[in-house]
Amino acid sequence: MTILITGATGQIGSELMPALAALYGAENIIALGHKRKPSSDLGGCRYFSLDIRDQAGLQELVQSYQVDTIFHLASLLSAVAESNPQQAWDININGLINVLESARKYQCGVFFPSSIGAFGPNTPKQNTPQDTLQRPNTLYGISKLSGELLCDYYHQHYGLDTRGLRFPGLISYRTAPGGGTTDYAVEIFAAAVQDQPYQCFLAADTQLDMMYMPDAIAAIIKLMQADSSHLQHRNAFNISAMSFTPQQLADEIKKHYPDFTIHYQIDPLRQSIADSWPQQMSDSAARIEWGWRAEYDLPAMVIDMLQHMRKRLC
Ligand code: SER
Repeated sequence: MTILITGATGQIGSELMPALAALYGAENIIALGHKRKPSSDLGGCRYFSLDIRDQAGLQELVQSYQVDTIFHLASLLSAVAESNPQQAWDININGLINVLESARKYQCGVFFPSSIGAFGPNTPKQNTPQDTLQRPNTLYGISKLSGELLCDYYHQHYGLDTRGLRFPGLISYRTAPGGGTTDYAVEIFAAAVQDQPYQCFLAADTQLDMMYMPDAIAAIIKLMQADSSHLQHRNAFNISAMSFTPQQLADEIKKHYPDFTIHYQIDPLRQSIADSWPQQMSDSAARIEWGWRAEYDLPAMVIDMLQHMRKRLC
């Protein structure tokens, strides 16, 4: 079993890599990064620097290491994507096509992370159904929805075992997200443990779906290990864990840091992106088809994040 992870130095990749290494052996993991340097401790995984748009380079790696499964995490997040839509399309779509083509040639399974960004302003915001109206109005969302459909296409036409999840905003302490709309929910913890006020770029009442990273990693592994015959929605499972506003998150942090303060200076770009997304998705298909269930709610996540951020920063 050989696993290749693209975007291995990113927010999800840096945590998925050790989790997969613990399960399948570090010697069986190939990690690819590009812009961000890997941490000095790769835990024995092999590392290569490769631009995901380099199709020949990717195919060579997949072939020479006889890769079985590709976890394709390399992608631009929503706010950066919106500031350079052409580059975002190139990386998010052409990168995915390269992965799918390598997988088609060498018969690999593929994991693809979609997002709440794959929905749009006309999607029902509460209890967002698994199958519903999707008309995203950001380039990020367009690339994620196209990715969901491309993965379906490669499954239907070429029999590839493609699987994927629609992630909410992800909260983690190991690696910062790079340029997303939900990044405030990570930045706020760094301010709190260092006794600093936090200036939030989203409005106080902007409600969004969120998830703590240990749940996200568990979801990826559980979905990839699920019996394929039980999966109907292969490439775009809604998963949810908690849903809150910046004010509600600040109030929860205040239970532990009573002097913590939050101020609001709205970034119109990120606010408009957030306003186009659902507030709370229904994850019933994931529960029924492969037994999904989140462990962390808001209070449990805040306690754990504060503890780890204190260790890292104080
Ligand atoms: N966390 C992502 C972002 O904000 C959403 O998928 O871009």
